[in-house]
Amino acid sequence: MKKNITAAAILLAFGATLISCNGPRRSPGIVYMPDMAYSVAIDAYAVLDSNKFTSDKLNKGSKIYYNSLPVAGTVKRGDLFIYTLPHDSAGYAQSAMVKNPIETISKEELSEAGRLYNINCAICHGAKGHGDGPIAEKVPGVANLTSDLFKAMADGTMYHSIEYGKNNMGSYASQLTPRERWQIIKYIRTLQGPAAAPASTTASADSAKKQ
Ligand code: HEC
Repeated sequence: MKKNITAAAILLAFGATLISCNGPRRSPGIVYMPDMAYSVAIDAYAVLDSNKFTSDKLNKGSKIYYNSLPVAGTVKRGDLFIYTLPHDSAGYAQSAMVKNPIETISKEELSEAGRLYNINCAICHGAKGHGDGPIAEKVPGVANLTSDLFKAMADGTMYHSIEYGKNNMGSYASQLTPRERWQIIKYIRTLQGPAAAPASTTASADSAKKQ
């Protein structure tokens, strides 16, 4: 008797499995945990549905909070130290003291930095840094990175502006890792020509240790 009940139970379970697989029903039915049923995975550069997502911390509860930045205070394995100066005028002023942690850059790294520059920056700043990229006309005030002003600008200040953006230039903190940003600054120095290197790029011994 017991055996029969077990057999019937197995049959029932098997039948249920078959039925549940029947037909092209892909919907999960009533969803208990929507985040698991509908993936919130985000493609780079995808435009987010503002009805569902928010990058505003204050709106966190009603919508899914996502700002595409690493969690505050975390560093990706192998990446450089976190930039901690605040996004205000005092932080901007202090940024000139931050040394580029990359003292020397290999040929390969420099060409990779150039590739990243061409993808992210050349559209405004132009392939040669003259501020004449394809959309520069549409964006008021694009900087000519080869001008004396930027030749004299410290690497740290450039980094600050890449991290937070400045006026019509957006932040590149979510597109480029800290290392990539410092490398791109090295690349910008090559666009400025050999005589351009300001004091801040002649790296000091202590900045090399941070690598
Ligand atoms: C949408 C156009 C645009 C793109 C793309 C862009 N920039 Fe800019 N950038 C600007 C504008 C406009 C300014 C001038 C900001 C100001 O001073 O008002 C600027 C200024 C700068 C400055 C000077 C910052 C300062 O503190 O004065 C640097 C350095 C710079 N950009 C680097 C970059 C790098 C590196 C990239 C790519 C990662 C990049 N920019 C991408 C528009 C752009």
